[in-house]
Amino acid sequence: MASPYLAPGFYEEAIAKGRHRDIVGGRWGETGRAQMAALIATGMTPQDHLLDIGCGALRLGHLAVPYLDPGHYWGTDASLDLMRHGRAVELDDPDRLPLSQLIEDTDFAFPGIPDQISLAIAWGVFTHLPITAIEAALPSVAQRLPRLKAFLFTVFLAPDSSFANPYRQADGVVTHPDRAPRHIRPEDVARLCAAAGLIAEQCPDRLPRGQVLFRARRAA
Ligand SMILES: C[S@@+](CC[C@H](N)C(=O)[O-])C[C@H]1O[C@@H](n2cnc3c(N)ncnc32)[C@H](O)[C@@H]1O
Repeated sequence: MASPYLAPGFYEEAIAKGRHRDIVGGRWGETGRAQMAALIATGMTPQDHLLDIGCGALRLGHLAVPYLDPGHYWGTDASLDLMRHGRAVELDDPDRLPLSQLIEDTDFAFPGIPDQISLAIAWGVFTHLPITAIEAALPSVAQRLPRLKAFLFTVFLAPDSSFANPYRQADGVVTHPDRAPRHIRPEDVARLCAAAGLIAEQCPDRLPRGQVLFRARRAA
């Protein structure tokens, strides 16, 4: 299967069993705080308009929505139900996030996302999808978000010499070239960003599970 999220009944079953935190990777507070720290290190202020791509059950959103000015958070995900469930059970004040700002989108087309988005993030999304996902997302980010200052995203990396085989990441997670969790070559990240008109810097942050954070900006 191209993505674990495509298994029939995957979201419905997890939500019904109260497992919405688990299916986005668990480590809820730690990972939400890591995302906030990365965004604030990028210069995020409450006045920014944030697009959380593949936002799941609002692991970042439960911290970003109260931080940002009301209505400044937008989320997309393959599952509208998962986002709405997160809004209902993980936000102290769901009214700070209009329902209309959670948008189902499986192909990174960002339907209905407004021009004022100034920061975007895709955390733990490309780590679970074929390379075609990042190939689609990068040009869409560059073209659909005219006021974007930076796009943060995570991947698992493997050197070219180890790419074809299972690869053990720094904290023990084993990633694969052809199934989730998936790794990608560093040169593929640079190549795909350049093709989209973006320049990506690899950040030194140590992230949960050994993911690597990239900060991409529009090439001058
Ligand atoms: C590991 S979770 C991370 C969620 C969130 N970014 C976080 O940090 O909690 C991956 C998310 O990607 C979503 N997803 C899977 N395939 C997708 C696609 N084609 N387009 C958008 N989101 C997708 C899943 O529904 C899930 O919420």
